[in-house]
Amino acid sequence: MSEFAKLELDGKTYELPVITGTEGEKAIDIRALRGTTGYVTLDSGYGNTASTFSEITFLDGEQGVLRYRGYPIEQLAEKSSFQEVAYLLNFGKLPSERQFNDWKESINSFSTLPEGDKKIIEAFPTSSHPMGVIVSVVGSLSAYYPEYNIPMLSDEQRRKAIAQLMAQVKTIIPYFYRMTQGLDPVKSKPHKGYTADFLNMMYGAEDYEVNPEVAKALDVLLILHADHEQNCSASTVRLVGSSHANVFASISAGIYALWGQLHGGANQAVLEMLQNIQDNGGDYKKYLEKAKDKNDPFRLMGFGHRVYKNFDPRAKIIKKQCDKVLDVLGVKDPLLDIARGLEEEALKDDYFVERKLYPNVDFYSGIIYQALGIPTNMFTAMFVLGRLPGWLAQWKEMKEDPTSRIGRPRQIYTGKTVRDYVSIDQR
Ligand code: CMC
Repeated sequence: MSEFAKLELDGKTYELPVITGTEGEKAIDIRALRGTTGYVTLDSGYGNTASTFSEITFLDGEQGVLRYRGYPIEQLAEKSSFQEVAYLLNFGKLPSERQFNDWKESINSFSTLPEGDKKIIEAFPTSSHPMGVIVSVVGSLSAYYPEYNIPMLSDEQRRKAIAQLMAQVKTIIPYFYRMTQGLDPVKSKPHKGYTADFLNMMYGAEDYEVNPEVAKALDVLLILHADHEQNCSASTVRLVGSSHANVFASISAGIYALWGQLHGGANQAVLEMLQNIQDNGGDYKKYLEKAKDKNDPFRLMGFGHRVYKNFDPRAKIIKKQCDKVLDVLGVKDPLLDIARGLEEEALKDDYFVERKLYPNVDFYSGIIYQALGIPTNMFTAMFVLGRLPGWLAQWKEMKEDPTSRIGRPRQIYTGKTVRDYVSIDQR
């Protein structure tokens, strides 16, 4: 039986349909509200607005649940691979062996960058922030693949675009990294596997052997970052794509959104914060007090989440991975002790408890990246690599939805009411 919410306005009663998702989540459908009542709804920061239907990722912030296409993140992290997860997110099911081999082959066929793109990377100062470089190079791909500059791609073109970006972003990051180190680029050897190939392109030399445990740890990190439903960057990808801008423009926009410290840029900010605490004598309790002080703009980076109000299931897995990677590499990182101390103190502090602030995905990931030799300003680039299949899946789902419309929020105007123009000599 259809369910309705009743709304009373100006002495009239309106019935608004209630929509129920497959996990029992309920929503009040206000799409017809403006037409029937003249009212809009106000929800700054979209804290309680469902912007779309989606079959990709389920997240229950109260219970700390995250599933891609129904599969729990814990199982995928343990048993799957990043490339398989990318297939799952984009095509809705785990691939058969043949489908998986075709998928990998399709990604591998794009392992080189257009020569012009290499020149674009080389034109950047080595001091550039990697996010600025990646975003520009991804945007520039539209110049080399003009066939994608049409409003609607065919299924085959969409599939190709997804495989292409999966391969080329994996190449752009190490290409720029090696340039900053004054090193020649290393050719992609995709048969090594996606993550091992990435590590090889970063650090590869004649005698370089990718440690399989390190490659696995990075693979797990990428899986954990792969999608997170309608977060800031995914929503940006959808919003830009909804205007029929091409896939490279849409993904570049997502990369820009991820760069900010409140989103993916938090992983760099966490490490800088930990480093700062260490450089200033290691008194992390002082930083907790700063985070609680409303007159101080400092926030405990890597803590808190818009949706998770119990724990972030990704952070739990990453914390374990962190111990494992440091152990495998024989690294003793004093920043890990500071991070543990901060977490322990925060979790028993009323300020953090009352506001339900827990470590998020970015709290421990930087310590792993650092142990892998990735420079701090490249951490968010690693997030790009991980989140890419999710952005692509969100973009694909939107493009395949015949009911999808251009994204266009409303506003409540609070400016001046109408007034007459005054000439400059009269002001
Ligand atoms: N340190 C100190 N106080 C905090 C923090 C923090 N990290 N996060 C939230 N608060 C306080 C905030 O001041 C507010 O207090 P009050 O109610 O007294 O005004 C309350 O908690 C609610 O915070 P909010 O800013 O309204 O929450 P939000 O949902 O808008 O923001 C967030 C979520 C993740 C941006 C925020 O928690 C934050 O800034 N965290 C630090 C940055 C970070 O780690 N970002 C990565 C997020 S996870 C990965 C990703 O999305 O890419």
